[in-house]
Amino acid sequence: MPRKLFITVIIVLNSILQQPVDGGFTEGAACSNRNTAYLNPSKALFPSDPVKCVDITGMGKSLIFYKQWPIGQADTLYADHMHLTSFNRTIFTFMPNLEMVDLTGNKIKRLPIAMSSVIPKLTTLLLAKNRIQIPKKKPLMRCFTIKTLMLSHNKIRALQTMTFAKTPSLRVLYLDSNYLKYITPKMFSHLTNLKYLHLGNNLLKRVPSKAYMPKSLSIYIVKGNKLERKRNAARPKRNTAVSLKIS
Ligand SMILES: *[C@@H]1O[C@H](CO)[C@@H](O)[C@H](O)[C@H]1NC(C)=O
Repeated sequence: MPRKLFITVIIVLNSILQQPVDGGFTEGAACSNRNTAYLNPSKALFPSDPVKCVDITGMGKSLIFYKQWPIGQADTLYADHMHLTSFNRTIFTFMPNLEMVDLTGNKIKRLPIAMSSVIPKLTTLLLAKNRIQIPKKKPLMRCFTIKTLMLSHNKIRALQTMTFAKTPSLRVLYLDSNYLKYITPKMFSHLTNLKYLHLGNNLLKRVPSKAYMPKSLSIYIVKGNKLERKRNAARPKRNTAVSLKIS
């Protein structure tokens, strides 16, 4: 009996572990073998149904596309865990209808500022576990269709007030597991549609109260930071004045 139970546990665990964790994040499109093209350098496998999803994870670093490939209608692209170091605009000319792009687990540092013209229908961009650098004086990108942006695990140290100025349609923003030390409501003030903001696992000592964040925000996650206790923040005024004088 215990042995049987043990085996059952193993089987259950196995099936949980085999679920795709990073690459399995889709919104809308349901990809299966019937509608996914698998593009490898040596051979391209096309499905029986019209291509809705394109998987280039087997392509390696040398991206090679052919005009005659029937991928123009695809709305979903899997390009995760490929060691890509840059965002290759050319490949998107072959797939002008993409809505979901998964670039999880690459080494991408910069995004094209004119994202709206590179991926005109983009709604979901997954960039967790890359090396995205936040431009100092420019927006991260200009894209008026994007709703979900995942920037978890990118070693991001700071955001600017400009960073999200040109992505006003964002609803879901993951910034968790970075090295953010400091944020202000202004950094999010352009995001008037923001519903979900994940700032967990950063180095934040303080976070703005939800009252100062976009009114649309309903889920605001800040766990796993270095938040100072409320008690410290709400010290009597007399003490604050003294410490100001000293410093
Ligand atoms: C970008 O993709 C194009 C088209 O497949 C390819 O010819 C080109 O070499 C790629 N550029 C880089 C820098 O990888």
